[in-house]
Amino acid sequence: MKIAIIGQGYVGLTISVFAAEYFEVIGFDNNNEIVNRLNSGISHIEGVESAQLQKRIKAGNYQATSAGQDISEADIVVIAVPTPLTKDRKPDLTFIDAACKTIGENIARSVLVINESTSFPGTLRQYIKPAIERYSKSKIEHQYAISPERVDPGRGDFNQKNTPRLYSGLTKEASRRTREFYSKFCNELIEVSSPEVAEAAKLFENTFRQVNIALVNEFAQITHSLGISVYETLNAANTKPYGFMKFTPSAGVGGHCIPVDPTYLAAIAEDHGAPATFIRRANEVNLEMSKYVVDRVQADNLDTLSGKNVLVIGVAYKPNVADVRETAAGPIIEHLLTRGAVVSWHDDLVGTWKGEKSSPLQGAEIAIVVTMHDYLSPGEVLASAPYIFDTTGKLVGCPGL
Ligand SMILES: NC(=O)c1ccc[n+]([C@@H]2O[C@H](COP(=O)([O-])OP(=O)(O)OC[C@H]3O[C@@H](n4cnc5c(N)ncnc54)[C@H](O)[C@@H]3O)[C@@H](O)[C@H]2O)c1
Repeated sequence: MKIAIIGQGYVGLTISVFAAEYFEVIGFDNNNEIVNRLNSGISHIEGVESAQLQKRIKAGNYQATSAGQDISEADIVVIAVPTPLTKDRKPDLTFIDAACKTIGENIARSVLVINESTSFPGTLRQYIKPAIERYSKSKIEHQYAISPERVDPGRGDFNQKNTPRLYSGLTKEASRRTREFYSKFCNELIEVSSPEVAEAAKLFENTFRQVNIALVNEFAQITHSLGISVYETLNAANTKPYGFMKFTPSAGVGGHCIPVDPTYLAAIAEDHGAPATFIRRANEVNLEMSKYVVDRVQADNLDTLSGKNVLVIGVAYKPNVADVRETAAGPIIEHLLTRGAVVSWHDDLVGTWKGEKSSPLQGAEIAIVVTMHDYLSPGEVLASAPYIFDTTGKLVGCPGL
């Protein structure tokens, strides 16, 4: 069986290497640079080892391409392209539309199309199916299913094999074939009654995280105003054996999922006249954390940051990945610059960001820790500047917390 996977990023490449153990996989990506690197056996994604990729290429089970006609022989096509927000923070389905165009224009026989990109309920039925039919040259009846991706890049304990997977087809046959496909490399498959339930469940999972992160971020501000430790209070609450789940404060949320997916849910809710009050407010609270952090740093430093050398430590959106999408380090740096600080950043995993290279850890007057990678030793970070503000709660003895 041939599988075409549209989009060879975090999601698409991860599935590709798992699927290529059992099937012939064609990884389609419209970025030629990525395609060339993948075909020479170099992975650009954390959690996908180049050696693993090279093994699949050597076995003749994986090939990347940016030529649409190369997917024409596929039996199953998986969509794994970005679903970002537009500039005015509305769902942006242009990448999905482009993927549908590639499928419609290049596939002339009936296939199973599975969407793994995160989007609002109704995307498969009301958007993907009609778009592929519109772009198709002939009247072909494809099968359609959804199986939202739950991969957490950089995570060791949960992967494609042991993370339960939701799925649902538009028809019984689509559901059956979807189960057959994933059961090769996923231990637990959970069928739900409609694609809309699977789509909504995925959005709710990330909205649950977003709202709880916002709540704990607000709580961090409350405990600070009361002069008590947020961490001690959270640890105390966490001794309750039921009905409580511990989240920890941060400088905000980053990545492609938590800051983005809840807005897809809010948009579809409001389109249907339902409230999305928590979701909208949670997003605002998380976005406002960067200003709150800089306000706290300024207050601890004679109420001025003008002319001060500030080092932002860890600019990736979470530990042990090089991903800077929607990172809270971005707005923190903007606030610092607006207040006249001289800003540099250190993150050897990211290396180069916005044309600038990672700076050494030493030499600043103020350091703000946004993300604490494992390669950073707490002692080294604590010695990086006379004043350090830790947004991660991982540095014991830090002056700013
Ligand atoms: N990254 C995650 O942790 C994660 C987890 C679960 C779900 N998702 C969802 O999965 C989807 C993909 O996310 P990602 O993180 O893999 O994105 P990504 O940016 O890492 O990768 C997307 C890839 O798609 C390619 N691409 C864009 N348009 C294309 C097109 N028209 N044809 C072919 N290739 C195209 C890009 O060049 C890129 O390589 C999104 O909907 C996201 O919300 C992501």
